[in-house]
This record gives sequence, C-alpha cells and structure tokens, in this order.
Amino acid sequence: MGKYIGKEFSRVDGVAKVTGAAPYAAEFHVPGTAHGYLVMSRIAKGTITKIDTAAAEKSPGVVRVFTHKNTPKFAHPEKYKSFKALQSPEIVFNAQPIAVVVAETFEEARAAANLVEATYRREDPSTDFFGRVEEAEQAPDSPFSGKSVQTTGDAEQAMSSAEITFEAEYTIPAEHHNPMEPHAAVAYWKNGKLKIFDKSQDVYTVRSNLAAALGVPEDDVHVVSPYVGGAFGCSIRTNYYPFLTAMMARELKRPVKLVYTRRQMFTGHGYRPFTHQKIQLGAKKTGELISIIHEAANNTSTVEKWNDSTTRFTRHIYACPNMKTIQRLVKTDLPTPCAMRAPGAVSGMFALESALDELSYKLDMDPLELRLKNYAEVDPANGKPYSTKALRECYRRGAEKFGWDKRQPIPRSMREGNELIGYGMSTGIWYAFQQPATVKVVLKADGTAQLTSATSDIGPGTYTVMTIIAAEYLGIAPEKISFGLGDTQMPKAPVQGGSWTTASVGSAVHGAAMKLKSRLLSLAQKDKDSPLQGLGPDEVVLLDGRLQNRKQTSNGVSIVGILKAEGMDSMTEVHKETPSKIREDYQLLAHGAQFVEVRVDEQLGMVRVSRAVEATACGKIMNPKTSHSQEMGGVVWGIGMALTEHTEVDDRFGRIMNPSLADYHVPCCADVRKVDTDFIEEDDRVVNPLGVKGMGELGMVGIPAAISNAVYHATGKRIRHLPMTPDKVLKA
Ligand code: MOS
Repeated sequence: MGKYIGKEFSRVDGVAKVTGAAPYAAEFHVPGTAHGYLVMSRIAKGTITKIDTAAAEKSPGVVRVFTHKNTPKFAHPEKYKSFKALQSPEIVFNAQPIAVVVAETFEEARAAANLVEATYRREDPSTDFFGRVEEAEQAPDSPFSGKSVQTTGDAEQAMSSAEITFEAEYTIPAEHHNPMEPHAAVAYWKNGKLKIFDKSQDVYTVRSNLAAALGVPEDDVHVVSPYVGGAFGCSIRTNYYPFLTAMMARELKRPVKLVYTRRQMFTGHGYRPFTHQKIQLGAKKTGELISIIHEAANNTSTVEKWNDSTTRFTRHIYACPNMKTIQRLVKTDLPTPCAMRAPGAVSGMFALESALDELSYKLDMDPLELRLKNYAEVDPANGKPYSTKALRECYRRGAEKFGWDKRQPIPRSMREGNELIGYGMSTGIWYAFQQPATVKVVLKADGTAQLTSATSDIGPGTYTVMTIIAAEYLGIAPEKISFGLGDTQMPKAPVQGGSWTTASVGSAVHGAAMKLKSRLLSLAQKDKDSPLQGLGPDEVVLLDGRLQNRKQTSNGVSIVGILKAEGMDSMTEVHKETPSKIREDYQLLAHGAQFVEVRVDEQLGMVRVSRAVEATACGKIMNPKTSHSQEMGGVVWGIGMALTEHTEVDDRFGRIMNPSLADYHVPCCADVRKVDTDFIEEDDRVVNPLGVKGMGELGMVGIPAAISNAVYHATGKRIRHLPMTPDKVLKA
C-alpha cells in the first residue's frame, strides 16, 4: 500500500454528481438550441416508398423535418461501416430512424413527429435466430480474440477416445445495456468548426467518424463528454445520433439537441446478441479433461458482421491438451449487436462453467474439486506462463467465506421451509489489457497539479483513481490535484472499454510523474549544496510536496521551491505510455471465483440469489471502495442475466416487444441480497508499472453460471436457456 494507493477513497466527482452539478450530454445548454425528435420505422425490412412530412412541417414550432430525401450524404461513407441513419429509403431493422423532426421545443418536436407518415414496400423479416442456427456461417476473426476457429491438439480424436463424455446446448437471448442516462448529443457550428457534447466512451473515435462523415478535418471537430451515466459498452462505437445531430446543426445553422427516449435506446445502439452454444467435454474417470469442443453462434445484422467472441476464454482456463473453438454468425433483420459488459466472456463461461458443473455430477465429484483437478499452471493454448494467477487462492478464500464445505452434494437435499436451497460455483476470467495512452501533467508553482487525458469515466471511478495515482507519484495531496477527461482537446486515450483504463491511462500518469521527477531532480542538483547531490532518479521520491532521498527522507527540497528557484510558474510534461515488450512473453489474465446460494420457491418457480461471494484476483487494487463497487455491480449484472433480462422480439414483425424498463427487467434492490466481494491482491511486475489488471467486466463473468449451477443443486432441474424465469423453473 502506498500513501494513497490502496486506501479507501470516495469519488472526487461524487458531490457534483449527486447535486446535479455534473453535466451529462443532454444537460449542456447552448442558447438558441432547437430540439430533434426521432421518428422510427414500423417495419423491419423493406423500402420507404413515400414519406409525408407536410402535416409535421405545419405543426407549431417545427423548424424542419429531415428524412432520407433531404439529409446530406456522408462525405466518406466507406469510412464508417455501421448503420447510417437517413442515408437511404432502405429499412434494415424495425424501429429504425426514418425521420427527425426539429422544432423550437422538445414537446413541439415530439408532437409533430407523430404526424410523419411513411408508406413502405414491406418484405418479410427474418429475426428468428434460434430457428436458423443451422445456417450459421463462420465469423470473421476478432481483433481481440483472434481467429474464429482455434485448435490445440486434436479435440475430435481425443473426444472419441474419452472415458466420460458430456454434451449440451445452451442459449442466451439478446439483452440491452439500459444505462440510466439516455444517449444524447448537443451540437453547434462556429466558423466552420463543430463542437459536440456527446455521451461517449471514446471521444477520439467519435471525432474521426464525424470528421469523415461531414467531410471536415479532424481538428475542426471538438467532442466533449465529461460525464457518462452508465454505458457498459453501448457508447463504445459511434452510434447514429451524433452524426444526425451534427449534420442537422450544420444544415439549420443553429445548435441542435437530440436525445433518445428509453424506447429508442433499444434500437439506437447495439446489444448483447442472441447466442447459441454447444459444448462437448471429454474426461478421464478421475476428472482430468482431455478434450473440449466449444461451438458458438451469435446473431448479427444484415449490414455488419459482429463476432461476439463467445469462445474467447475457453482455451485459456483449464489444463486440457485438446481443444477446439468455433465462432459462427447468423444474419438477422435486427440492429448490429455490440459489446455489452464482459462481451463474449460471460456468455461463453455460462456454457462452459455450466457444462463443467454437469460433468461434475456425472463424475460424482465436487464441482470445485473438478476445477482444481484441471487447474492450469501455464496457459494451455500456448504454453506461456501466467504473469500472475491467484485463482487457486480465490477458490480457497471464496469457498471458506461462503461455507462451501456445508454443501450437501445431492441435489434437492437442502431445504428451509418452502424453499429449496442450492449452492453453485463458477470461475471468472478476463484479460489484463493495456493500450497506448497519453497524459498531460501541469505541475504548478502554487503546489497544485492539473492532469488531462481524453479517457472517459462511465462510472468505475476513473476521475478518482487517476487523482489517487497522480497524488501517489507526484507527492501532492489529492485535494490539490485535478484530473480532466472526455475532451478531444486533451491528449489521446483509448476507449474506456475492455477494463483497460486504469492499466493504460493510470500507467501514463505514473510515467509522466517519473519524467517530472527526473526533471525536478536535475533542476535541484543545479544547487551545489543540494542534499540530493549525486542521487539518480530511482534514488529519490516525490512525497509530501517534496523531492526526497528515498532512503533518508529528511534530505529533500520542496517541489514548489525548485520551480520558484528557476522562476517557473509551472512545469509541463506530456507522456505517452505504451505496453511493454515483456508482456508478450506471458499470458496476461485476471481471474475470480464465485460462490452463490439460491433459494427456490418451487410452487412459484421463483429463484432468489440469497448470497453471493466473489473472490477476485486482478493485480493491485488502487481504490478498494470503488473496486468493491465494480465487483458488486458485476454480481448484480450477473443476477439480471441469469434470472430476468431478455429482449423479446416478435419474429412475425421483427420488432422488440419490451423496450422499456417496465417490461425489460433489470434487477432491483429487492433482487439483490448479500453480496460479498473480496480481492486477492497479486504482485504483478509484468502487466504494467502499476501492477493493475482489469476488473469491471471480470466481476460478472462467472455469475450466471454459478446461479444456474445453484438452481440445479437446489431443484435437480438443469436450465440451459437464460433467463431462468419462473415459467422455465416450473416447467423444467
Ligand atoms: Mo465494456 S463492454 O468494454 O464497455
């Protein structure tokens, strides 16, 4: 633990958020703003033959109605492959935007939007993914998980010779992120330059996409996104609304605001795709796995190929000599899916960890013992050592805290009153990614420091953790540090995704501080009487506002004093940190173990997750307070995925039938009982200078499988199709 790192810190932006002082995209007020309201298609596939906007145009307050007929075309459509709104009369999914009404007020725009009438040449949509899994084609390779078919050894051969085999199919429906904040943008042009306030996880990509679409240089586009009210992946890509907002503002020569309604959010961005998986396991009678074959398919749209990388971790988790993973796609007349918290990982591990649980009963072996029996000491796919892997300790700590030893092995053997009790466990896994990131630090002669980097804070506590890291390595109290983000006038940072922000941007903060320390030392050593004479940068440390001898901290000089002696008001450092070469020699992963207790009322078919214990190993913990929060959030997401979340599509119309928080069920407080999160810290010198791995996605990865395994233990019923709603529990 450092002076600040590893200690509990409340969010530096907490007060601003709860008092409403923190502006979200739709809350930027620009004088003279006109308001847009989207009109959505009522068919899933076909062509608009006529669109009548006359009545809407005459409606009070209406400024203009945009349709595919009067909307300017993208300057470089080839540079943005995703769905583009109002660029053609073609309909490729139901509730696709077909017009935007812009009016003086939001209410006038909404009222007029109801008057837009479209006539279509309708074609039959095809959205029944599960009915068409047999038609799946091979997916394109993924930039993060690699080839869509991957093999180790000879999985088929080994499977046919296995003493024990197990095979099953698992399905997951489409799910939507449902962040609290609706997507929104406010855009205006001044002297040919665009400024846009957007909800985004990645302002630099919004900038390049808008510049390409609008035919202007990137430098003429300024994207601002200081606060994001939850995103979970649905603001990684540039959704269609910022293009529309910027284009309308340019056409109308005035600021325009566009905000999605909750209903529009269901087709306004991507979603976790429908997923079908088949798992085959081959093992010895003693439990050692000898073969795993994992086939996955997900739906995509007709305009793009989305590979959800469902099988991404299967070959990296258990010591199995023969493995094969295959990733396939089925085109559907639905929007393109996108990354949703722990994309692929949580889906793939639901199938693999459920299958392993099923195998444990076939072997008459404790599910935890089966995992320990197949514990991988080196990466089974490539033989690389793990940089660190405290998964064994996670299993031990989690099992102990949970009381796994009290589990009676026979299903249906634990009961209390009306309720059957079940224990289930699972393994979680995620990457320890790092991406290049740049940070600017301005150290001021008044003893403060200002840091900026165009990352995002979608909720994990990025403002706070960067402040802590800066305080630690600059030796300045956190109250004297400000960290700015979410602005393309700041140095470039990667998208906030993949759970890589602290590893990437935090390491850049550390690197910048190290450079400043060296520069301060050279300046201090200009003084021949300096107590720091003869010391190298590694022998000094910035602490308590002073540059000090690491070994003899009474010997030092004040940072402010060094700057003042030089007549400097400030010292600036811009530092780009890139992943180290040494990372390539290791397999870099974060792990966790999850233990869940469910209580099932068999007469009602109701499943309650009464307890969850999660032990996580993801390197060093910077801020335990927000870190526990992340892991708890992961558990809550897992409960939703396991028990309630389901985007329902009526395949006759290709239309989403539950686009509201009333009908799409995310867990509420009553669904979440005891959640215990714990960290096993790892001292990882490989991953990055801070020793941090990702945690935000990891926390959810094993949860749906652990819940499903607990439901089986409670009831003796195996439900392989999420979510495990009461009807399925009753029917199984
Ligand atoms: Mo995350 S799905 O990389 O926002």
